[in-house]
Amino acid sequence: MRRTVRIGTPNELDSFALVAVVARASDDQFTVSSFTPSVIGGVALPQSYGIEWAKRQGLSSTVASSTVLRSFATTDVTLVSGGDALLNSIDEWRRIAASAVRSAGNRSAALILATADVTDAHSVGRALGEGALLASYEFSDGPNDELSEFVVIPVGTLPTVEFHDALDAGCREGAIVGDAVNWAKKLVDTPPGQMTPKELAKRALRQMETHSTVSIASWAESKIEDERLGGLLGVSRGSAQAPRLVYATYDPDPSAELVHVALVGKGITFDSGGLSLKSGEGMMTMKTDMSGAAVVLAVLSAVAQLELRVKLTVIAPLTENLPGHRAIMPGDVLTIRNGKTIEVLNTDAEGRLVLADGLSLAVEASPDAIIDVATLTGAQVVALGDEVAAIFSSDDDLAAALMAASDVSGEALCRLPLFDNYEAHIESDVADMKNIGKPGKAGSIAAALLLRRFTDGLPWAHFDIAGPGRCDAVRGYYTKGATAFSARTIIEYLRSMQL
Ligand code: BES
Ligand code: MN
Ligand code: ZN
Repeated sequence: MRRTVRIGTPNELDSFALVAVVARASDDQFTVSSFTPSVIGGVALPQSYGIEWAKRQGLSSTVASSTVLRSFATTDVTLVSGGDALLNSIDEWRRIAASAVRSAGNRSAALILATADVTDAHSVGRALGEGALLASYEFSDGPNDELSEFVVIPVGTLPTVEFHDALDAGCREGAIVGDAVNWAKKLVDTPPGQMTPKELAKRALRQMETHSTVSIASWAESKIEDERLGGLLGVSRGSAQAPRLVYATYDPDPSAELVHVALVGKGITFDSGGLSLKSGEGMMTMKTDMSGAAVVLAVLSAVAQLELRVKLTVIAPLTENLPGHRAIMPGDVLTIRNGKTIEVLNTDAEGRLVLADGLSLAVEASPDAIIDVATLTGAQVVALGDEVAAIFSSDDDLAAALMAASDVSGEALCRLPLFDNYEAHIESDVADMKNIGKPGKAGSIAAALLLRRFTDGLPWAHFDIAGPGRCDAVRGYYTKGATAFSARTIIEYLRSMQL
């Protein structure tokens, strides 16, 4: 099933399999907007509901909790909690939309939106579109032919033309973002034997085909050798699959001086650890290790469709990390694109090796800022769990802009320090640096400090999404499996950087 989003009118309500109505909690009752039709699909709908009844149905003051009122006709109604305060966090609208589509399953769904509940129709439209689509994701191998709608139906006093247009534009933009993120989730969820570097590059090229402002190339192994990407080549040596590097640019207006951001994504299509082999348990989720690449490619696709006025360079080094007979060995030294050398003491710290090449290439594009995204360290999961990403930045303005974007996207971030004293942890006797820090000590920081050495002092931010890159159960608008975490924050950041 593939879901589409649009806005509609109250006279269509009876055509949906499910209609969601927001109910607000007070001390003794739940109330729906007085503009809600009193009969929907043959179901008579009171305006208020006793709190005891609501509690028994699972409807609470927790935003997006819900209860379905089954119909004898074709249209069920679900009451979705809008909480006890006026909705003001945009993320709550994403969760409300997600709750509606979950109640609908594969069926069509509509949401009645009381205009009085909305102060910023554009933002609410975006949140509803995103939330509905993100929650509608299901992994399937083949094409999703079956279509189902999510329709937002404003009711209330005089929805003005401005309100209508802002809501409509918001829904469209939210749908673009939701679709792009779901595309990334599908790449990540595809079994690793299928999602090889070659296949991932192919899917990226296919996705960008329709975007005329995007140029994209897939570098084959010989080109990667010619370009001296020693980190990527080193990691790929243990695998029978050749590496790839996807290099893409987006420029909607070459005659203008747009803000230029380079995005680099870790694309390990499977991380076994290499000769420093992971445990069986540790490998179970390692098809997720290409999330950074999927995220930056999804950002590119969304930005192109939204026609944002920024310039992008997107770089995704892609390889497996396997312990084949030609694999790099602990003690090997690799020379990265920019000439710096790294002693590989643990082949499982491979992400930083391929990112070092990716960041070196990014620097050569002379962007105004560089952002990389990676499922980089187990230490990030220990520090922040699976709902918060770590962000590191060499630039306070860039960090602040990304934190502000995360407030809008609902993707939680925590800034960790690039603590200079820990540079000592990655000093090597035989090379410019080694690829691991001190065992059990600030592993995420050591990795970030290594990456910083490849950014040439440019404003740079690094997202470590090792934990939040996956979700182990349905939560709000997140589905089980890949999350493509940080894509929506970066899109929002780029929206804010438009000229
Ligand atoms: N891809 C892993 C990090 C990871 C761990 C992501 C768990 C998601 C969940 C990365 O390549 C890795 O193996 N890092 C090592 C580095 C260590 C050897 C210095 C780690 O964190 O254990
Ligand atoms: Mn690893
Ligand atoms: Zn990895």
